[in-house]
Amino acid sequence: MQKLIISLLLMSVIAVACQKGDHTKTSQKDSAVDTKVEALISKMTLIEKIGQLNQYSSRWEMTGPAPESVDSMSLYNMVKEGKVGSMLNITGAVATRKIQTWAVDSSRLGIPLILAYDVIHGYETMFPIPLAEAASWEPELAKKSSRIAAIEASAVGLHWTFAPMVDIARDARWGRFMEGAGEDPYLGAKMAYARVKGFQGDDLSDETTIAACAKHFAAYGFIESGRDYNVVQISDPTLHNIVFPPFKACVDAGVATFMNAFNTINETPATASSYLQRDILKGEWGFDGFVVSDWNSIGELLPHGVAADKMEAAFKAITAGSDMDMEGNAYINNLEELVNEGKVDEALIDDAVRRILKIKFKLGLFDDPYKYCNPEREKSVMRCDEHLAAAKEAAKRSIVLLKNDNKLLPLKKDGLKIAVIGELAGSKDVPLGSWRAKAITNSAVSLLEGMKNTTGSSVIEFVKGPAYTEGLRSFTTELKINTTDKSGMGAAKLLAAKSDVVVIALGEDCWQTGEGRSQTDISMKGFQQELLEEVYKVNKNVVVVLMNGRPIEINWMAENVPAIVECWHLGSEAGIGIAEVLFGDYNPAGKLPVSFPRAVGQQPLYYNHFNTGRPTNGEGNVFWSHYTDESKTPLFPFGYGLSYTSFSYSDLKLSSNELSSGDKILVKASVTNTGDVAGEEIVQLYIRDLVGSISRPVKELKGFEKIRLEPKETKVVTFEITTKDLEFYGASGKWTAEPGEFNLWVGPNSAEGMEANFVLK
Ligand code: BGC
Repeated sequence: MQKLIISLLLMSVIAVACQKGDHTKTSQKDSAVDTKVEALISKMTLIEKIGQLNQYSSRWEMTGPAPESVDSMSLYNMVKEGKVGSMLNITGAVATRKIQTWAVDSSRLGIPLILAYDVIHGYETMFPIPLAEAASWEPELAKKSSRIAAIEASAVGLHWTFAPMVDIARDARWGRFMEGAGEDPYLGAKMAYARVKGFQGDDLSDETTIAACAKHFAAYGFIESGRDYNVVQISDPTLHNIVFPPFKACVDAGVATFMNAFNTINETPATASSYLQRDILKGEWGFDGFVVSDWNSIGELLPHGVAADKMEAAFKAITAGSDMDMEGNAYINNLEELVNEGKVDEALIDDAVRRILKIKFKLGLFDDPYKYCNPEREKSVMRCDEHLAAAKEAAKRSIVLLKNDNKLLPLKKDGLKIAVIGELAGSKDVPLGSWRAKAITNSAVSLLEGMKNTTGSSVIEFVKGPAYTEGLRSFTTELKINTTDKSGMGAAKLLAAKSDVVVIALGEDCWQTGEGRSQTDISMKGFQQELLEEVYKVNKNVVVVLMNGRPIEINWMAENVPAIVECWHLGSEAGIGIAEVLFGDYNPAGKLPVSFPRAVGQQPLYYNHFNTGRPTNGEGNVFWSHYTDESKTPLFPFGYGLSYTSFSYSDLKLSSNELSSGDKILVKASVTNTGDVAGEEIVQLYIRDLVGSISRPVKELKGFEKIRLEPKETKVVTFEITTKDLEFYGASGKWTAEPGEFNLWVGPNSAEGMEANFVLK
């Protein structure tokens, strides 16, 4: 009896899921593909259909733990039997052709595999990590680097990248901060849209484009205490207003696939969430691509404690709308039985297969499964001059000048004795960043090389200082930081003392960031702080070049050192890009896509926070929202960044102080270059909705424009505000703009700006 009730319950869940998942938007162009897909599905056996939902990593490159091993022989047999629809981590035109031959020539229906790889910020030519590139506030730049990444990846037979990662992140303890565009949904959505367009172009069947994947759906960036794979507790409005916008932007850009996430959301694992995958993604947003699980995230429903075994995990995941099982072995081993026992409706399997086959058709894999495997193209495009030039451009445009007292920067190319100090300054590897696809180890231009290459008669000498790391550095191993051997400190001090200026590179090794790299302490590790202080004792002309993949704690530095340049992990041409900034060939114009905290205890820290009931203090009163041992403000706010010139803002004018539905307000502001060199400024527009049905953030970015100004030149920047820009997901559970008063700012960052008000009628 109990069994009967359970299976009746299961059947009704399936029926609802089927209805919800069937909202595919069919354009005319797609209908030819649909016909082919239906014809193919009609020939497929149940196990062949389930095979299409099964994805394995190659056994020779892993980006996660192997849950159950499938050796090469059994893999070959499974591909032959049509039991594998996709593979990840196979690279190189020869290898991809080989595995594709197995599927096309040896399986009954010859359905090609879709081959995937994590091409996050470049394939061999490395671009700045996505967090850095977001600091350019130039979606076009991100589009171009994704385009180049696709050109390189497609040449080796790859069809699909697991990017862009569009998770909004607010907690610097999380190692994966580096993979996304930072803390803001508006900037994040612009970058996400651009990246999808860059990878996919306008035509997926073009041999230089690849399918993109919006990940990780959803809220992975909100994991509790910044600890990777941890749980997420999040309100519905925050999910809709902050987390979803970049994902929605990917759907608007036509993204082919989504990846779900490891985390739970309010006690339900994202992988088993019907709300996310069916109601929102495939329902409300009409997404007609497919959803891949994250690495064994279906298998992880067991340790999450929502499935007793893989059978139940498979049931929950397919019901919730996860179409493809990455490395979980849950679908291939259990779905057939679940269908045969009537627990899973075959229509659910058909829906998933349909989605996957559609993307394979769109990629043109049925016309030519090998068209992407092109050894000649592979040779000619990898790290070609054009790609490296684009990487250099991206590197310099991602740099943020945080401090420049007494115009210490730019440095003169001639006549100076320059000390370059720090292991990171000499490193040809760290700038390549984490999640570096097929970057060649030690292939970046180091800061030292870049400076030597760019300078004139200035003499550059280098001392490494104490070693930063010990032992193996790699994607899969825990990084060991040297905390015992201080040798090198003395030599660094001696060099600093006899030099005119010191350029010291500090921050993080790239393997301190990325997946599985959460930290409780975000200050500089090893002997870096001590090295900085020792050097500063003997030479006050210190320029810090920061290399890091997350915001780090730099209070002492910010207070004492005259110049700080945020250089992240900038990719293949990092050293050249940084040197062009240091020597003034390029005037830095980046702005922070994330708030820099004063202390790790402030995390999560973000500019678009709520006001609270007690935002400010009364006289001598302790009972207000603050810390007793540290300010609650950021050290450097979101949107902050300096230039070698200065800008003044004036004449903020609104076309009206009232906005009616369907209408718009034009916001104009004048920006003048008040210095004596040309420069670029990112002009930012923020609003605040003063009274809402729910609490509203104290500021929200609603527009930005990067402009270039010659010395003394003034430009008028115009923004448009419509009712749509004021919409949010409030108490009604719908996106609406609520009438009332708004504040508005136009300024150089989230903490400054000219202010005005308007009313939404
Ligand atoms: C990561 C994904 C990645 C996948 C495949 C997982 O561990 O969370 O972002 O795409 O591995 O490498």
